[in-house]
Amino acid sequence: MAALRRQTGGVVTETRLETQALSRDFGALRAVQKIDFKLDAGARHALIGPNGAGKTTFVNLLTGVLTPTQGRVLLGGRDITAKAQAERVKLGIARTFQINRLFRGLSVLENVCIAVAERVGAAASMFYPAGRRTDVIAESMHLLETLRLEDQARHRVSELPYGRQRLVELAIAIGLKPGVLLLDEPAAGVPSAESHIILDALERLPEHIAVLIIEHDMDVVFRFARRVTVMVSGAIFAEGTPKEIEANPEVRAVYLGQAGHG
Ligand SMILES: Nc1ncnc2c1ncn2[C@@H]1O[C@H](COP(=O)(O)OP(=O)(O)O)[C@@H](O)[C@H]1O
Ligand SMILES: [Mg+2]
Repeated sequence: MAALRRQTGGVVTETRLETQALSRDFGALRAVQKIDFKLDAGARHALIGPNGAGKTTFVNLLTGVLTPTQGRVLLGGRDITAKAQAERVKLGIARTFQINRLFRGLSVLENVCIAVAERVGAAASMFYPAGRRTDVIAESMHLLETLRLEDQARHRVSELPYGRQRLVELAIAIGLKPGVLLLDEPAAGVPSAESHIILDALERLPEHIAVLIIEHDMDVVFRFARRVTVMVSGAIFAEGTPKEIEANPEVRAVYLGQAGHG
């Protein structure tokens, strides 16, 4: 099972991101406890669990925002536990950026262009300033269309409602063309009438990208995910297909059965 490639139902699957006994304490609190987890190439994987289960802490350990108390993170079989956040982005791990990572005084289009230009290396070019690269602009505009943001392309980020700013974050994360995309409640704060825009964009992502989404809305989880991991009190409580998770009586008792888990 430690091998990078393994057989699952006759299909050879490649593990992109893996954790081994990954743990993080905050003082006496064991927020993440010895998590062994695999995210395969092309995965559509949801991480669910009650508030305080350790989901965000786990993602922060994957992206390098937090250092683990114990355990390892591997990308394509390579130990990246000691790598800083920026290095992990370069290796292809993207997440939705926090709102405060956006350049609020710049336009929506400029924000996305910066990410796309950085990816294609245009930012470093003396000869092609990022803002004048037509290929960068065209790709960025296309991304904005995907997220139904084209009408706001020239608006400053600071003028946008919160939900739209979250869509800009998603456009930036997708614009990095990551191998692994980590989404921590991407629809939080997005009006429910607009949350389908996020799901539509996720469903159009290239197949090979490994996606891990933390999501409370079970309709989204069961529509998007092919695999679900349930975290409770810092540990993996259950893992399986959406059908298996939905039918699991223990999961229902601790999570799905709760009234108003959204
Ligand atoms: N920086 C921190 N310092 C201290 N405790 C933290 C910190 N971040 C998270 N925690 C605690 O760790 C636990 C897991 O939190 P979190 O990962 O945010 O859970 P979830 O995302 O599943 O709601 C919670 O009890 C939370 O209060
Ligand atoms: Mg969280």
